[in-house]
This record gives sequence, structure tokens and C-alpha cells, in this order.
Amino acid sequence: MEIKKITITEMLQRKKEGKKITMLTAYDYPMASFIEKSGIDIILVGDSAAMVVHGHQNTLPITMDEMLVHCRAVRRGAQGTFIVGDMPFLSYQTSIQDAILNAGRFLKEGFCDAVKIEGGMPVVPVLKAITDTGIPVMAHIGLTPQSATQLGGFKVQGKDSKDAQALVDSAIALQNAGAFCVLMECVPDRVAEFVTKKIILPTIGIGAGSGCDGQVLVTHDMLGLFERFVPKFAKKYVVLSEQIRKGIEVFKQEVEQGKFPSPEHSFTVADEVVKSLK
Ligand code: KIV
Repeated sequence: MEIKKITITEMLQRKKEGKKITMLTAYDYPMASFIEKSGIDIILVGDSAAMVVHGHQNTLPITMDEMLVHCRAVRRGAQGTFIVGDMPFLSYQTSIQDAILNAGRFLKEGFCDAVKIEGGMPVVPVLKAITDTGIPVMAHIGLTPQSATQLGGFKVQGKDSKDAQALVDSAIALQNAGAFCVLMECVPDRVAEFVTKKIILPTIGIGAGSGCDGQVLVTHDMLGLFERFVPKFAKKYVVLSEQIRKGIEVFKQEVEQGKFPSPEHSFTVADEVVKSLK
């Protein structure tokens, strides 16, 4: 299959033509290469790595340097795919200058094509400053996990008229500030659909219904690799954890029973060599 990196213009075109955009997360070389070979449009190197790879309780502890290691590995596995680097907590909230420098590191050191930042109205000036520097930014509204405690937990956002209108207004403001795409997380389907119709930019949903222009899932959720917490929206397409556990158990049994390694997995040597050993 020929891999052709999607452009921002093509993403806008997809919206106009009603053709869906696909996005998945990846954090390492093998997964990135599986995703690229499957023809997924965008890879997100999500700060969800903090939870699903590093085992933290939330996304807050992951650092810029850790994110950049993940980005470089993903780029090695997916050289022809549009990659978005997720700016971690405190890499863009402290000052405009920090935001620009850290966003730039995702392109210069992480080989990403774009970055993603979380937040509505309060991040509009930050998003504008980054895009004015020439760095494409994906906005992320709705449930923004970096501020989940302030939002009252990992909860659906935009359930009453006031909150739903705030989402619409934020999406418009982020579009005007220069975002190339708006990701919506945990938003009621009809609110997400309204936002999608209201803005020119493509929307990508996660727990935001089928009315968005594209869909993203955390790969560890959809492949059944992360068991601690599975959100309602995270459809499991395969349960790899069962196969992994089975493989490990069989290895243990075979080693203990002397069945592994068999001659098939061993190297031989001529009899004289063995006889010559003192
Ligand atoms: O970090 C991440 O994986 C994300 C997704 C939930 C969209 O931001």
C-alpha cells in the first residue's frame, strides 16, 4: 500500500466531501509502523502515554523530554504519516514563550508535523502565538484530561446549555486563532455535531458521537492493552491482553517443563568440536 502523508488542505477537503478522517495514538516504533501500514491518516503521540505506557494515574507527570522520546520512536516507525505531538502539562500554560519553544521542540527534535494543546477560551492567545510561528496546532476541547480535577473528574462536558454554548464559542475562537482541527473529547453527540456544522475546520471526536469529521481512539484501549480503566467510548476491537497473558504463561510452563528451547530453537555444532572441549 502506498503511503501518502495527508495535508491540512486535504483534511479540510475531506470535511467538505463528507469523508471521515482516522486518527490513533502511538508511542513507539512497532505500533507506529502497524498504524502507518493500515493507512490511518493521523498518529497522535498522546500524553495518554503517561497512563498507558508509564503507568501514572493521570496524564500530568509526563515531561517534554519523555514525550520527545516517544515522538522520535513513532516517526521512525511511520515516516510517511502526519504526526501530532501532544503538548504535556505545563509545557504551554506557563508563558507564550515557553509554549512556542516547546511546540517548536516537537517539530525540531520530535519530527512531528503539528502539536495539540488542551483548552478552550483561556488557551486562545497561546494557540494563536504558536500558529503565528508557523507551527500547526490541533485544539482539544470538552474533557481536557490535564484539567480533569478542575472539571470534576473524567466526565462528559457540555451537558447543559451554558456549557454546550461555551464549547461552540471556544471552537469558533480557536478556529479564528488559527487551529487546523478541533478535537472534542467526551461531548454529547448532538453538541459535537452542532460544533462540527458550525465551524469550517474538521472535528475529530473521542466519545463525541458519529457526527464529527473524524474519530480517534487511544490504541491501547481499542486493542485491549490497558485494563485499569476503560472509558465507555473506548470500543475494544481486539483483546490483546488475553493473548499476551496466554503467551507468557505458556513460555513459563515450557521453560519449567524443559520443553523450551527445543532443537528447532537451538544452534548445533559438529561432534568433533564438542569432543575437543576440555
Ligand atoms: O493523549 C491522548 O491520547 C489524547 C486522546 C484522548 C485524544 O489526547
